[in-house]
Amino acid sequence: MEDAASVHRHLDLGGRVAVVTGAGSGIGRTTAEVLAGAGATVWCVDIDEGRVEETVAAIGDAGGHALTAPLDVADRSAVHVLVGDVVAAHGRLDVLANIAGMASEAKILDLDEGELDRIMAVNLKGVLFGCQAAGAVMVAQGGGSIINMASAAVLAPSPNVGAYAMTKAAVWQLTKTMAVEVGKKGVRVNAVAPGFVPTNMTARYYVRPDGTVDEEMKAMVLEPMAKYAPLRRVGETTDIAYCVLYLASDASSFMTGQLLSPNGGVAMH
Ligand SMILES: NC(=O)c1ccc[n+]([C@@H]2O[C@H](COP(=O)([O-])OP(=O)(O)OC[C@H]3O[C@@H](n4cnc5c(N)ncnc54)[C@H](O)[C@@H]3O)[C@@H](O)[C@H]2O)c1
Repeated sequence: MEDAASVHRHLDLGGRVAVVTGAGSGIGRTTAEVLAGAGATVWCVDIDEGRVEETVAAIGDAGGHALTAPLDVADRSAVHVLVGDVVAAHGRLDVLANIAGMASEAKILDLDEGELDRIMAVNLKGVLFGCQAAGAVMVAQGGGSIINMASAAVLAPSPNVGAYAMTKAAVWQLTKTMAVEVGKKGVRVNAVAPGFVPTNMTARYYVRPDGTVDEEMKAMVLEPMAKYAPLRRVGETTDIAYCVLYLASDASSFMTGQLLSPNGGVAMH
C-alpha cells in the first residue's frame, strides 16, 4: 500500500545531486529552490554571477544546500569542466535541469544570421552540451534524470519568435532522441514546455528602456494571455518548477522522452 511515507519518498531528493542551469533568474531560480527544498544538493549555473550568487544565498538561508557555478552554457569545455567538478565533489550527478535560455524576436524574413547563431548557441547547443556531459556520467553510474526546458512555442506556429521556437523544437527532438539512446542505461530524458510565465525574459514586453515596469503595458500583455487560457491565468515560476521536481524524482520513474506542458491549457497535445 502507498502511504504518506512512500509518497514522500518518491518525491524526496535527499542525497541526490542536481545541476540547474539558468538558476540566476525566473524559472531556473525557482527550480533550484524547489529541488533544494526537496533535499538535493544543487549546483546553480548561470552566466550572471551576481544573480546566481543571490539564488545560492537564498537557498542557504532557507536551510538548503547549493553551490554557485557561474558559466556560459554555450561554452562546451566549461560545461564539461563543471560536470567533472560535480562528480569530483560528490561522486555522482543525479539530475540535470537545462533551463538557461534567451529570447529573440524577428520575423522569419528579417531573421539575422548572427542572431540565429547566438540563440542556437545558448538554447540548443547549451542544452546539448549539458546533455552530453551529464548524460555520460549518468550512463556510467546507471541512472539519472535530465530535464530540458522547451516551450509551448513548439506546439504551434510562433510568428515573430521563429528563431526561438526553432531552438525549442530542436530541444524537444534532442530530448526524444536521447531518451531512446540512453533509456536502457536507466537514464531518463524529458522536456517541459511552459506557457507564458512573467520573468525577466518576458519582461521585455512591458519594461521601459530605463528598466522600470510599465504597469499599463504589463496589464495589456498579461490580461489577454490569461483570458485565452482555459485556466484563465498566466503561469508562475512554481508551476514549472514543480513539473521539474516531478520529472527529477522517482515519482516519474516510468517517464522518458515526454513533453510535460504546464501552460494553463493554451495548447494541448
Ligand atoms: N518565461 C516564459 O514565459 C517561458 C515560457 C516557455 C519557456 N521558457 C524557457 O524557460 C527558461 C527560463 O526562462 P525564464 O523565463 O526564467 O528567463 P529568465 O531570463 O528569467 O532566466 C534565464 C536565465 O538564463 C541565464 N542565461 C542566459 N544565457 C545563458 C548562458 N549562455 N549561460 C548560462 N546562463 C544563461 C540568464 O542569465 C537568466 O538568469 C528558458 O529556457 C526559456 O526559454 C520560458
